[in-house]
Amino acid sequence: MVLAALQAVQDAHGYLSPESVQAIAEYLGVSQNEAYGVASFYAQFKFIRPGRHAVKVCQGTACHVRRSDLVLEAFERELGIENGQTTADGEFSLERVACFGCCALAPVVVVDEDVHARVRMTGVKRLLKKYTGTGRSSEKLVASESDN
Ligand code: FES
Repeated sequence: MVLAALQAVQDAHGYLSPESVQAIAEYLGVSQNEAYGVASFYAQFKFIRPGRHAVKVCQGTACHVRRSDLVLEAFERELGIENGQTTADGEFSLERVACFGCCALAPVVVVDEDVHARVRMTGVKRLLKKYTGTGRSSEKLVASESDN
């Protein structure tokens, strides 16, 4: 019951705020600790409001070997946030992920639904510009940094 309520709220709002977890706990007659316990057990739940554009940087083995750590650092520098945070203007959230399943394209970055292949730290600023101001990128689904 708690799990279903948490999923419904996250589906509606994109994350679980402290107020929403409290409201769920009160409505279902469980403690807030119990509701948080369920939510924190599952990786699917987010406790920070996602940005308008979700930036996901792969840190899986194939991407790591191709220095995706430097790519993640470049995003952190450009956005002024760390992994798991959202920019103050709500435009971007940044998240590291384990593997997108397209390791041949390493290092891989996914912004919203767009897959960016072979991203280099020097291309991060340019990549972000595609998502500022005009909304969603009109780029093709898989774009390589070498295409630019
Ligand atoms: S390790 Fe990055 S896509 Fe698989």
